Amino acid sequence: MAVYDVCIIGGCGHVGLPLGIALADRGKKVCVQDINENAVQGVQSGKMPFMEEGAEELLVKALASGNLQATSDPSCISESRIVICIVGTPVDEHLNPKFGLMKRVIDQYMDYFRNEQLLILRSTVFPGTTDRVGEWLSRNGKKVHVAFCPERILEGKAMTELSSLPQIISSLSPEGFAMSRELFSCLTEDIVEVRPIEAELAKLFTNTWRYIKFATANQFFMMANNYDVDFYNVYNAITHNYDRAKDLPRPGFAAGPCLFKDAMQLGAFNDGDFYLGHTAI
Ligand SMILES: NC(=O)c1ccc[n+]([C@@H]2O[C@H](COP(=O)([O-])OP(=O)(O)OC[C@H]3O[C@@H](n4cnc5c(N)ncnc54)[C@H](O)[C@@H]3O)[C@@H](O)[C@H]2O)c1
Repeated sequence: MAVYDVCIIGGCGHVGLPLGIALADRGKKVCVQDINENAVQGVQSGKMPFMEEGAEELLVKALASGNLQATSDPSCISESRIVICIVGTPVDEHLNPKFGLMKRVIDQYMDYFRNEQLLILRSTVFPGTTDRVGEWLSRNGKKVHVAFCPERILEGKAMTELSSLPQIISSLSPEGFAMSRELFSCLTEDIVEVRPIEAELAKLFTNTWRYIKFATANQFFMMANNYDVDFYNVYNAITHNYDRAKDLPRPGFAAGPCLFKDAMQLGAFNDGDFYLGHTAI
């Protein structure tokens, strides 16, 4: 019998911790594992390491119920039925994706994986990573089911969006699909099932589409400004009761590091042939 339903590697981060808290709140036994000792100690004492609306009350509640634990000790990986990996996946100093990162994390914890566990990748990954991780585990003699179930929350809104957004799930095996479906059904009934490469692209397309929309709004704003036109008069005229333009964002300092790095990952995936994305950057 596993001690935990779920262990989250990178579990004190912006994506890992809200998910851990939400799952614990729904009755799952969760262990969040992280190499950041300060963050682990903070979480153990009921302090969120970053701002997330409504999370701290639920964290305190989850700790008190015994459903949530935080540790830097990786042995919780062996003690869990499902392992979710949500470490950061930044681009390198040349703005290229770091292919080796996910493999290094899997290698770091290889000895802790057990046969018949489910490993869910939830970091945003370069397309093809799920297949590669599955192959790497089986080459190392691990019969672990591998899934990719992307996160699409907005930072700060995680505690509501984790149950209001649909969850995309994908896996390399039917057992992986079944276990992923069962896990996420405690957060939402709206589950979309696709192949791993489709889920990987779905996440990158989602973020890059948003990035291009922000870039377009900003360029329109600069154009209007150059001709002494009040951009907001134009914006209001376009979007007033006109559904086809309602997704034009307002201009501004939009798009954090995720949208930028994910547009770069998509460009690299398409061998650099992504003018629209690079122009948006
Ligand atoms: N932040 C968002 O809004 C958001 C939304 C959707 C998807 N994502 C994706 O989720 C992933 C994680 O992003 P994040 O914002 O949570 O990053 P983050 O830096 O806040 O969290 C990552 C956590 O992983 C820990 N970590 C790093 N290496 C580790 C290791 N080897 N073992 C254990 N823990 C380790 C870090 O200490 C950190 O606490 C990225 O791929 C990102 O693109 C982020």
